[in-house]
Formats: sequence, structure tokens, C-alpha cells
Amino acid sequence: MKAYLLYEAGGTDKLILGEAERPTLKSGEVLIKVKAIGINPADTIYRNSPTFITHIFGEERPVIMGWDIAGEIVEKAEHTDGFEIGDAVFALLQNARGYAAFVAVNVGLLAHKPKHITFEEAAASPMAGLTAWQPLVHGMNIKKGDRILIHGAAGGVGHYAVQIAKYLGAEVIATSSAKNHDFVVALGADQHIDYQTENFWEVIKDVDFVLDTVGGETLERSIEITKPGGTIISIVALTQENLMPKAKEKNVHLSLRALQFNGADLRAFADLLSTGALKSYIARTYPFASMAEAHQQVETRRTAGKIVLKM
Ligand SMILES: NC(=O)c1ccc[n+]([C@@H]2O[C@H](COP(=O)([O-])OP(=O)(O)OC[C@H]3O[C@@H](n4cnc5c(N)ncnc54)[C@H](OP(=O)(O)O)[C@@H]3O)[C@@H](O)[C@H]2O)c1
Repeated sequence: MKAYLLYEAGGTDKLILGEAERPTLKSGEVLIKVKAIGINPADTIYRNSPTFITHIFGEERPVIMGWDIAGEIVEKAEHTDGFEIGDAVFALLQNARGYAAFVAVNVGLLAHKPKHITFEEAAASPMAGLTAWQPLVHGMNIKKGDRILIHGAAGGVGHYAVQIAKYLGAEVIATSSAKNHDFVVALGADQHIDYQTENFWEVIKDVDFVLDTVGGETLERSIEITKPGGTIISIVALTQENLMPKAKEKNVHLSLRALQFNGADLRAFADLLSTGALKSYIARTYPFASMAEAHQQVETRRTAGKIVLKM
């Protein structure tokens, strides 16, 4: 089968389109014919890092990266009840290997693709969607009318976070650059702050919650504008540990949250994609042959919404 093979970590030239063996199934797995692949900053960070590649794949080389996929089930092993050949599904792949024509996935990680959304819209969502979902739904007890500040609201994670927070009834304050003002407001943000021309800590105060996707000074300043008793969850591990005393002094709950591979969360997220409460916004779709270009776009860290590849 066609697959992108990574013989060693490095630049986008290390993503080699070649041939790999089609996976064989273990109990509990289905074989998915991949129709679309989502690309995240994590894909580019792992591609570039020998340490991270070894952490996931051990000594195996070449490896097949790829975490976000959508496609159609073409084979199933035993203990795969609830999923049938021909079903359209999407997944966050715990063991990667999604940059390929076929991938084997344990059904515990799968969700059915909502009928009215495309394979591209489904593939865009697992990693960024759950990275937004888990802090907001499990880490914050958001009640109707609570005020939440979402940093990086135009990005992959942020654009889902704005929609989830609105779904939960929050008042949303969102940061992005001016070029993404209209995009972020269309997602449902009640207030927009252009982080390039305004200091958010001079414009707002006393928010109940902050979702930090930026880190550094953005995270540090967020403590100042959070109510005592409020919660900040960061998904980027920059200066977080140093900031604990400052957060504690203000009685602000500050934590770092890493993405959990959780099929139940993906199925709950899929339910909201299917009602239309959540939507994936795709900045650009690339053909499978253009993996390097897709990585380069994600590496700009200025993408609004998501980047996907179509098989
Ligand atoms: N903890 C975890 O498990 C986990 C999981 C997923 C992602 N992450 C991390 O979370 C971060 C965000 O991921 P992502 O997928 O959303 O990335 P992304 O899609 O590349 O986000 C890009 C967005 O960030 C915005 N941005 C850049 N600098 C900003 C700033 N100083 N203030 C506000 N917005 C800013 C840009 O908006 P403008 O163009 O308008 O500036 C752009 O739309 C990445 O560092 C990623 O590695 C962590």
C-alpha cells in the first residue's frame, strides 16, 4: 500500500512516499481505507524530533506517522461489534500509522462519521477537537454565563474551543490577529482581542476560565485577569511550573493538560458534529502527494482552522 515512510526525523524532505505492507488485524481491530488525514502541529514536532520518534516507535524504522484519519471500514476482526464493513468512521490513532492507504484501528478509538459531514471535516477534528474538548468539558465546570478567555482562537484547537464553550453557554472572549477577527466572531466569540495590537490584560478582567494554547507571557498574564477561584488550563508546557506560586497566591487553579486518547470523548464530540453544534473549518485541503506542503503550512503556526489531506 502507499504510505509516507520516515526513515529518520528531520525536515519535510524526510517524508518519503513509498510502499508499505498492508496491516494485518488483531482481535478488536478493523481495517480502514483512509480517505482523509488531518495534520496538527504535533505531526510537525514529532517529524522533526529523533527523541519523540523513538519515544513512540522505539527502534522501528522506517515509521509511518499520522494520528487523525477518516475513512471506510473494509475488513473486521473478531470483537468489533458496533462497526461493520462499509461504515464511515474517524479516529485519533494512539499508535499513529495514519499516513497510509490503510490503517488498523482498535474499535475502542473509533467513532462513526456523522453522515452530513465530509471525510475531510471528520479527519480534521480528532486531535485538535479533543484537545479543546477535554479541558473544557472535563477540566472546567462551565455554567451558563461564565466568562472564558480562549487564546489562539483561530487555530485548530482554538476554533473548536470557541464552539464548545458557546455550546456550554459561556460568554467567550477570543484572541487572534486582526486578519482572523471575522472568522473568530463567526465561530461565536462575543468579544475579540487582537493580541498584536492590544494587551488582553489591559482590556479584560475577572474571567472565570482561560484556555491557553500559547504559553509564555500569554499564560503568565492570564493569571492576572482570572477571578480568584477561577481555572486556567494550558495545553502548552512552557513556563507553567514557574507560575504556580503566582497562581496560588491569587487562588487561581492552574494546570497543564495533555491530550488523552479516548474513544468515548471522540464519540461525544461526534454527536455534536452530527447536530451541527460543532463544525470543522478547513483552511486548505491538499492531495496525498503534497504531504510536505501540508506540513509546511502547519509549521507557519498561523493557519486559521485546519489543514487536511485527501486521498
Ligand atoms: N497538550 C496537548 O496534548 C496538545 C495537543 C494539541 C496541540 N497542542 C499545542 O497547542 C498549540 C495550538 O495547537 P493548534 O493545533 O491550535 O495550532 P495551530 O492550528 O497551528 O494554531 C495556529 C493559530 O494560533 C494563533 N496564534 C499564534 N500566536 C498567537 C498568540 N500569541 N495569541 C493568540 N493566537 C495566536 C494563530 O492565529 P493568528 O494567525 O490570528 O495569529 C493561528 O490561527 C500548539 O503549540 C500545539 O503543539 C498541545
